[in-house]
Amino acid sequence: MSAQNKSKSKENIIPKKIGTLYGVGVGPGDPELLTVKAIHILGKVDIIFTAASPGNDYSIAQKIATPYLKPGIEVRRLNFPMVDRNDKVTLTSTWRANAEKIAIVLQQGLSAAFLTLGDPLIYSTYSYILPYLTEILPTSAIVTIPGITSYQLAASRLNQPLVSGLESLTILSGVENPEKLDHFLNKSDNVAILKTYRSFDQIMTLLQRKNLTGRAALFSHLGLAGEEIHVDLKNHPPTEPPYLSLMIVKTGGC
Ligand SMILES: C[S@@+](CC[C@H](N)C(=O)[O-])C[C@H]1O[C@@H](n2cnc3c(N)ncnc32)[C@H](O)[C@@H]1O
Repeated sequence: MSAQNKSKSKENIIPKKIGTLYGVGVGPGDPELLTVKAIHILGKVDIIFTAASPGNDYSIAQKIATPYLKPGIEVRRLNFPMVDRNDKVTLTSTWRANAEKIAIVLQQGLSAAFLTLGDPLIYSTYSYILPYLTEILPTSAIVTIPGITSYQLAASRLNQPLVSGLESLTILSGVENPEKLDHFLNKSDNVAILKTYRSFDQIMTLLQRKNLTGRAALFSHLGLAGEEIHVDLKNHPPTEPPYLSLMIVKTGGC
């Protein structure tokens, strides 16, 4: 075998060192609410991935992370179509395709960060593609960096504990079924409702019926321009809030 062929066959045998994907939580909005670890990673990775839905080319997570990114770093937007959650075929094929796009980058030996608002494992697109990534990549190539969640910032704005003593906390994303919310308002001491905009009227009607509006607070654009906080929704029921809004209800163990 010639020396050239020998080195060629060696190239095929020795696998390229695979890069690392960091799922980075950038916190809810305030660029000072990233962890030291998140900042350190954002400053060293080769490529940034963000989630975008068609027609929305604006990534809030990217804006929060911008001060910490390497100048001129490539940012790749991964499309996550806004389809009915029952359209499993479209959803799973998109998640798989996006996981493959990330894997191709890592297989070139590059490192990457997938940015998520708040924490990466709380209702995020990162958690949808994670199972597909773990199918394709070795576990050691995926590292999740936790972030401060939106509801943690909400509680800190009021200087109120989210949970204390033996209390419980339920976290919900949107309310498709008011009976489900009713159930948790009965069973849980505290309920954080993310994506409040989805069924705001239904939520308010239920809170009124259960006499809980005085124990509910609504938070919008926390840590971002236009932040709004409404405590005690009994006296000042707000109009339908924007996408970046959440509610915390302290049920008082009702
Ligand atoms: C896809 S979930 C992301 C949750 C995020 N991973 C977390 O840890 O908080 C989006 C929802 O989070 C909440 N959210 C995220 N950031 C927020 C902010 N800065 N202010 C108010 N609500 C926020 C809103 O309820 C929004 O609809």
